[in-house]
This record gives sequence, C-alpha cells and structure tokens, in this order.
Amino acid sequence: MRDWEAAWRGALYGPGGFFRRGEVPAGHFRTAPLVGPELAEALLVLLDRVDRLLGRPARLDFVDVGAGGGELSAAVRRLATGPLGRRLHVTAVDLGPARRLPGVRWTDTLPARVEGLLVGHEWLDAIPCPLVTGPHDDPWLARWWPVREGWRAEVGAPRDAAWADAVGRVRGAALAIDYGHLRADRAAGRYRSGTFAAYRGGRQVEPVFDGSCDLTAHVALDACAEAAGGDHVLVSQRDALAALGLTGAGPGGVVGLGGIVGPGGVVGPGGVVGPDGVVGPDGVGGIGGPDGVGGPLGVRRGGGMAWLESAARASRVAELRAVGGLGSFGWLLHGVDIPVSELLPPLPPWHP
Ligand SMILES: C[S@@+](CC[C@H](N)C(=O)[O-])C[C@H]1O[C@@H](n2cnc3c(N)ncnc32)[C@H](O)[C@@H]1O
Repeated sequence: MRDWEAAWRGALYGPGGFFRRGEVPAGHFRTAPLVGPELAEALLVLLDRVDRLLGRPARLDFVDVGAGGGELSAAVRRLATGPLGRRLHVTAVDLGPARRLPGVRWTDTLPARVEGLLVGHEWLDAIPCPLVTGPHDDPWLARWWPVREGWRAEVGAPRDAAWADAVGRVRGAALAIDYGHLRADRAAGRYRSGTFAAYRGGRQVEPVFDGSCDLTAHVALDACAEAAGGDHVLVSQRDALAALGLTGAGPGGVVGLGGIVGPGGVVGPGGVVGPDGVVGPDGVGGIGGPDGVGGPLGVRRGGGMAWLESAARASRVAELRAVGGLGSFGWLLHGVDIPVSELLPPLPPWHP
C-alpha cells in the first residue's frame, strides 16, 4: 500500500517540493495575513496582554511558525513600536527559502525557547499525515475519528505531535489558527470523504503528488489541544477578533480596534495598544468616538479618503470575521505560565 504521508511530505517539502522551492499562499490561495494588517493588529493586542502577564521581560518573542511569504511577521514587526516594539524579536519559521524582511529573523527550525507569543497560522494544515480508508485500526482514529467502512480520513497524530512540541517551547502563549473539525462531527460522518484537498493558482484541483500544488487537510484542533495540554481554549476567529477589539463597522460605518484610533478618525496600522503602548506610525492622537471608533469629527477631518479607507478596512474586517469563511477558523490558544482567562474573556466554544 502506498505511504501517502511520505508522498505528501515529498510533494511539499522534498527536493523541488511545492513549499520547499518557495511557493507561497499569495500565489495560490488567500490567507488572513494576506487580507491586510488587521490580523497582525489583533495579535499585537494579544501579545501586549502576554507581555504584561510575563512582567514585561527584557526580550519578548513573536514567533510565526509556517510563515509562508512572511506577511504576518512583517506586519507585526512594522506595527509594533514604542517600548514593546523595542523589546520585540520577530522570528519567521518556514521550510521554504529564507526571505529578507526588515527586522525579521528567518529560520527553518523552531527556536528552542520562546518567551512571548508563538503563532502557527495555517501551519498545522500543511503538516502531512496518513490518509486512510475505513475500517482502520489506527489508535489515533479510534480516539479521534472513528471511521466506518468506506469512510476516508486523515490521521492527525503528526499534527498533534508538532503542536505539542511547539507549545512545549513556549513561556507565554501559543496560538494555532486553522480550519478544522471536531470529534463529534467527524464521528457522525460529516467528513466521511475526508478533507484532503489540493490548491493551485487560486483553484481547488485534483490532488497530485508531484509538487505542482498545495496539499492540505483540515486540522483536528481538539486533538491538538489535548496533545499539547495545559490551560487552553478553542474558540472561533470571529469571536476572538471581537474580543481583541476588532469588531467591524462602528457608528457611522467606521471601524475601530479596541479604542485605537489614528489621525482623521481612521484606525491606522499600529494604533495604540495597551498600557505599555504599541504605537504605530498612524496611531498618534486620533479623534476617537465612542468605543474607540472614529466619530463624526474624525470623518469630517479625514474627508473622503478617510471614509474610503474606513470602508476598505470594514470590508477587510468583515472578511476576517465571516461566518463560513475565515471567521469560522479555530483559534486554539494555550497559556503557559500565564492564565488563558487573562488573555481572552469567556467565549463560546468553537464549532465550525
Ligand atoms: C498554508 S502555508 C501558511 C503560510 C502563512 N502562515 C499564511 O497563513 O499565509 C503553510 C506553511 O507552513 C510551512 N511549514 C510546514 N511545515 C513546517 C515546519 N515543520 N516548519 C516550518 N514551516 C513549515 C510551509 O512551508 C508553508 O509555507
């Protein structure tokens, strides 16, 4: 029988493999870091909370595992200024060719120790795993994805191991953001055809193992959570972003990020975050309306361009929070030596 996990690994990470040779999401599919800077802004709010709970260490890490084109790392580095920004070390980890991004260290191995926030954004779905057809006696399947005759499934054990390893390196917080599924739905047969899929040039295509396309499968985030253990929550991106202040259009259709308002009443990249102050180039002063949303004054001073920018921003936030789209991604957040309850308020459990 063919070793599908090995074939998948070879196609993505072997010599000439899809990611190994330098293909990036931007060329083939859309991920949240490609939408705009808003995900990075929200993660900086989270990072500021982590930093406070760690006691504002002299060196603070942001580690982006499976960094792809490095867009998230670059945005975090660009937007983090002020005292937090000066202490921040941004590391992008990827198996593809190293990219030169200002202020970002690029490596192909996870750092031994991370003090701060480690993020795996659409990393785990790119980790190859065995592809099986039921019935099957694999112990992971018995625990997490009981398959019946003819059902197809992916054995998530390699993702569990990768996530447990990553979380084990962290003091602070580790966050996996990905599309995925839960045991109850898997066992009920909602994914009986499996979720293994291929993408090329913006389209879903028939999977082939020749390195010409991205190969991916949904992540059993509940299994990853248990494997890494400790204090954690699994919530939706839609809810998590709102809890970090990214809620969409406010009064007058202007979007605010948790009281972070730039000049002209429009939230600019970088904004102002937390007591330690992460101040971006646009994040000075600002004319905030209620709950940090640019008020009528802001719109008037900003004029037509400000309105256009706030409308564009509202549409990016809506994309990040869309139910059935990016908003239905899972956020698996672990706190290590810090309580998760201090990072996010109580939120409904994720159900994709
Ligand atoms: C789907 S892409 C996501 C890229 C980016 N995070 C984004 O959301 O736009 C997955 C990335 O994970 C990388 N990757 C997979 N396994 C990895 C590993 N063990 N260490 C580092 N990077 C890995 C791949 O090379 C690929 O660039």
